[in-house]
Amino acid sequence: MSIAPPTAATIVAAASLLKGGELVAFPTETVYGLGADATNERAVAAIFEAKGRPRFNPLISHVLDAEEARRFVRWSDTAERLAARFWPGALTLVLPRSAGSTIALLATAGLDTVAIRAPSHPVAQALIRAVGRPIAGPSANRSGAISPTHAEHVAESLGARVSMIIDGGPCLVGVESTVLDLSGNAPVLLRPGGVSHEAIEAVIGRVALSDALPAGDAARKSPGQLTSHYAPARPVRLDVADVSADEGLLAFGANVPDGAVLTLNLSPAGDLAEAAANLFAMMRALDRPGIGRIAVMPIPETGLGLAINDRLRRAAADDGKSGRR
Ligand code: TXA
Ligand code: MG
Repeated sequence: MSIAPPTAATIVAAASLLKGGELVAFPTETVYGLGADATNERAVAAIFEAKGRPRFNPLISHVLDAEEARRFVRWSDTAERLAARFWPGALTLVLPRSAGSTIALLATAGLDTVAIRAPSHPVAQALIRAVGRPIAGPSANRSGAISPTHAEHVAESLGARVSMIIDGGPCLVGVESTVLDLSGNAPVLLRPGGVSHEAIEAVIGRVALSDALPAGDAARKSPGQLTSHYAPARPVRLDVADVSADEGLLAFGANVPDGAVLTLNLSPAGDLAEAAANLFAMMRALDRPGIGRIAVMPIPETGLGLAINDRLRRAAADDGKSGRR
C-alpha cells in the first residue's frame, strides 16, 4: 500500500489498479471511499473482505454526473430536479436498477435498486473519469469503525488491505452523504447526511424520514443502517451538561464545562457545518488511552445537526465495545 499525492500520474496509476480489479481508497467531499470497479463482482467482493463487513450491505456507486447515472438506473423527474440542484455533491439517490444496468449485483446486495451519487471532490471526479466506469465505494474504514476524513485514518484502519490510498487532504463536509430513496411512491430519507432534509424539501416538497417507516421496513430498505455503526472503542455519553474526571469532552458552542481529561470543540462558534467537518476526526482523537468515556454536548437538531446527531447516537448505542476498533 502507498499513500499517494493527488497528481495526474497518481490518477492514471489508480485508474489502472481499479480496472485491474484492485481496491483504491480515494477522497470525496464527505468521507474517504474504499473504491472498486462497480461493474466487477470480484472487485466489489474484495471491498466487503477488506472492510470485514459481516454481511453484504449495498454500496453507493459513484458516477460523474446525471447523464452517466441514467445508464445504470431508471431516472425520474424528481431525480433530475435533485441532481440539478445538489450534484455533484453529498446526496445519494436510490433508484430502480435499469434493465441494462451493469452495476455488480453484489454492489446492490441483491436489491433491485441502486444507490448512486456524483461526488464533487475534484480527485474523485478525475478518478471516475479516468476509470470510465462507476466506482463502488463505502466509507474506507473497517466495519463498525468511524468513517475516515483524512488519508492517515484510512492507512490506520485498512493499511495493507488496499493497493493505494490517494491523499486529498481532509474532507470538507466530514459526514457521509444523505441517502434518499426515490424508488417507492414517495421519497424517504434513509440516512441524514451532508445535504439537509430541509434543503431537499425546498426542492421536491415533503420528504418522510425513515424513522416514520415500520421498523422492519426501514431495516430492509437500508440494511447498512445498523444501530451501532459509527463506533469508537470507548462508551459515549450524549447531551451532557457537565463532565467527570475520566471523560474526554466533545464540546459544541461557547459554554463549555470544565474538568474533562481532554476537551475538543466541534465548533466554538456553534457552526454546524464546521462541526460536521470536525466530527469524526475529533471522535477518533478522544478515543484513546487515558480517556474512560467520551462525553458529548448537545447539538441542535436542525440542518446538518440531524446527520451529526444520527452518527453520535449510533456511536453511543453500542455497549459491547471491547475489541472493536
Ligand atoms: O458519503 C458517502 O456516502 C460515502 C462516500 C464514500 O461516498 N459512502 C458511504 O458508503 O457512506 P456506506 O457504504 O458507508 O453507506 C452507504 C449507505 C448505507 O447505509 C447503505 O445501506 C445505503 O447507503 N444503501 C446503499 N445502497 C442502497 C440501496 N440500494 N437501497 C437502500 N440503501 C442503500
Ligand atoms: Mg460506512
